[in-house]
Amino acid sequence: MEILKTPKEVREYRSSIKGSVGFVPTMGALHEGHLTLIKKAREENDYVIVSIFVNPTQFLPGEDLDKYPRRLQADFEICKRAGVDAVFTPNAENMYNEDEILIKAPKIKGYILEGFFRPGHFDGVLQVVNKLFNITKPTRAYFGKKDAQQLYLINQMVKNFFFELEIIPVDTVREKDGLALSSRNVYLSPDERQRALSISKALKKAAKLSAATQNIEEIKKEMIRILDVDKLQYIAFVDRDFNYIDKIIPDNTIILIAAYVGKTRLIDNIWI
Ligand code: PAF
Repeated sequence: MEILKTPKEVREYRSSIKGSVGFVPTMGALHEGHLTLIKKAREENDYVIVSIFVNPTQFLPGEDLDKYPRRLQADFEICKRAGVDAVFTPNAENMYNEDEILIKAPKIKGYILEGFFRPGHFDGVLQVVNKLFNITKPTRAYFGKKDAQQLYLINQMVKNFFFELEIIPVDTVREKDGLALSSRNVYLSPDERQRALSISKALKKAAKLSAATQNIEEIKKEMIRILDVDKLQYIAFVDRDFNYIDKIIPDNTIILIAAYVGKTRLIDNIWI
């Protein structure tokens, strides 16, 4: 497995290989969720490139950039075992210049929900993903449905900027008890982890109810009853294009939750 540190090294590697390339961008601290993306990329492509980069521009001041888990050696082992061909681990200096051209997330859909509570977050995500796509030139890029709004915006960027690649959405991976896998789960104490389960329970209940009713208020009331979180930021109902909806649309609804459990901010969603 190649370990590449600079965009130049990736460029050289990229021009030395022929065939399809599956790309999995990550911020490291790899878990089963990432592994599912990697496995799918492995199945569908001749080569797999994984990037590991805790991208500073997508963190807001006061967020967890400094304490975000970093486990590079363990991540390399995971990648090696999963049959990854190359890992790209740049540092901020070789990804960013001082005064560079910036990408803005769309004014509405980049600034609602996650973008409202983390203003500018998606500008940073799109900036780095744009660079990563240009450096790795993938045939297909793999993203988890857990970050549903990110997935939507990256699809938009691919369309708006005429990238020639395919975005492959991958289902959220959960622990046996329903907790969505996230690198941030390590911040949870045992009690918080237990209470965090109420998020996936609320979503599961919402999915069940939505088979019987399209009434969002009714569903929301039940979700709030189930949730045992410290600060609920939003429960939202949108269609697959992130337009707010006022009733459940079968096969075209995403129900999303963002909440703090203790000091940890968690997001999760269910696609209906
Ligand atoms: O989803 C993530 O881990 C990050 O937002 C991404 C896509 C790797 C960009 O830094």
